[in-house]
Amino acid sequence: MSRTLLAQSFYRLLSSQTGSKLEGKVALITGAASGIGKATATKFINNGAKVVIADIQQQLGQETVEQLGPNATFVTCDVTKESDISNAVNFTISKHNQLDIMYNNAGVPCKTPPSIVDLDLAVFDKVMDINVRGVVAGIKHASRVMIPHRTGSILCTASVTGLMGGLSQHTYSVSKSAVIGIIKSVAAELCKYGIRVNCISPFAIPTQFVMDEMSQIYPGVDDQRLLEIVNNAGVLKGAKCEPNDVANAALYLVSDDAKYVSGHNLVVDGGFSSFKSLGFPAPDEVH
Ligand SMILES: NC(=O)c1ccc[n+]([C@@H]2O[C@H](COP(=O)([O-])OP(=O)(O)OC[C@H]3O[C@@H](n4cnc5c(N)ncnc54)[C@H](O)[C@@H]3O)[C@@H](O)[C@H]2O)c1
Repeated sequence: MSRTLLAQSFYRLLSSQTGSKLEGKVALITGAASGIGKATATKFINNGAKVVIADIQQQLGQETVEQLGPNATFVTCDVTKESDISNAVNFTISKHNQLDIMYNNAGVPCKTPPSIVDLDLAVFDKVMDINVRGVVAGIKHASRVMIPHRTGSILCTASVTGLMGGLSQHTYSVSKSAVIGIIKSVAAELCKYGIRVNCISPFAIPTQFVMDEMSQIYPGVDDQRLLEIVNNAGVLKGAKCEPNDVANAALYLVSDDAKYVSGHNLVVDGGFSSFKSLGFPAPDEVH
């Protein structure tokens, strides 16, 4: 099955799962033209929310909005430009009169030589600009409109690579560690306004950016094989990490189900980062 067909059947399945946990709520999601952001936008809409999709990819963003229907709107936004983020927040307010949920999800992988000795600091700055500064700017401008209302939920996408070393290149790993730190720092201030701030740390999911990276690491290997490699990397047998798993975690964190959860990093990794095995031989193997 082609990647497009796979994606279409996936979103059809997703759109059949509905609820009302976000009835009357308005969400702004960055990086929602594809992948995790798109799955989460779909989930939020299917639970009653109106969603503004903010993404740097204009055409893909418009196509996504067409697929998601009248409760989705697109605004062009490059999260490295504070004025774009500010504009996306203002656009949401002018369209819907409120902003209840801000999901800072946009992020990029990094392509730089793997050794610290060869680290490309120009690439480091570029990745930090999107993955860290973009998140901080999103939180700043969401807070600007949420604080006067004394309510709101802010969510960010971190990663298991921000919890443990060795799972990705230093630059990406550092950027995601920073996201986990940012939500704790900001939760400390915003709790007095009733605003909750959390993040999600997903395991590897074969979205566009992971597939692009995999194709570079394994040139000439077909998509199906690359999918298998990513999906077999986890430890929880019988399941694989999918965008919908992150969307479910996001729905929980931004809904009233999590009304007393703030400053939390919800790890969605099938247990991967919780343990290491010593690899001792079984007792009957030792003589
Ligand atoms: N896929 C994974 O394995 C995985 C695991 C852990 C965390 N994450 C994180 O999840 C988030 C979403 O990634 P994804 O896997 O859905 O990948 P994706 O490539 O499908 O989606 C990323 C989206 O961000 C957008 N974007 C990139 N730069 C932007 C910018 N400057 N301004 C606005 N939008 C921008 C892209 O256009 C794209 O739509 C990222 O923060 C990523 O780091 C992904």
